[in-house]
Amino acid sequence: LPKYLIAPSILSADFARLGEDVDRVLAAGADVVHFDVMDNHYVPNLTIGPMVCKALRDYGITAPIDVHLMVKPVDSLIPQFAEAGASIITFHPEASEHIDRTLQLIKDHGCQAGLVFNPATSLSYLEHVIDKLDVILLMSVNPGFGGQSFIPHTLEKLRQARKIIDDSGRTIRLEVDGGIKVDNIGAAAEAGADMFVAGSAIFNQPDYKVVIDQMREQLQV
Ligand code: DX5
Ligand code: ZN
Repeated sequence: LPKYLIAPSILSADFARLGEDVDRVLAAGADVVHFDVMDNHYVPNLTIGPMVCKALRDYGITAPIDVHLMVKPVDSLIPQFAEAGASIITFHPEASEHIDRTLQLIKDHGCQAGLVFNPATSLSYLEHVIDKLDVILLMSVNPGFGGQSFIPHTLEKLRQARKIIDDSGRTIRLEVDGGIKVDNIGAAAEAGADMFVAGSAIFNQPDYKVVIDQMREQLQV
């Protein structure tokens, strides 16, 4: 896999033409499909579930699908998303009663597992579970909506998370999600991120390739 992964959030895609739009963004150079699942309970918005993930697979999407669960409770959706073709499943530790069990459940279903940290959630959750993680996702906005502004304090938190990953000696992706644009992706990479979610920055432009190329230029790859 490349050093840096660009993961467009389909929250800002055209839901009425989702398969075509996902094809277009992958053809434009995206690496991963970021799939935002919101339940109107853990976050104040309602989006898409396992049926839509399965529909994308049936349509012929073969790229990794990165399922970001903003739901509470978490566990009952994991087998369904694994069955529906999820590659990575991440969840918020506050939304699970038993974080270690939920991580193990994801792995037992053959997916990569990750924890998501809201802007005010402490990285101390990492202490006892780092051996089970494939991905650490830092939210750079409060979850629930696309199109919000990047919270600058995230850069300091990315540096802390990068140090924790490097000290662990493990191969763990450091993903950042929320308000990522051409003009801040370089700073996020410099702070240690290597996987970048971007929704509105990509899907609100007519030519996805232009934006993705500009982002890669900032990453100098
Ligand atoms: C926010 C979602 C993000 C969001 C990103 O709750 O998790 O993935 O769609 O959208 P932008 O890039 O527009 O901030
Ligand atoms: Zn997300």
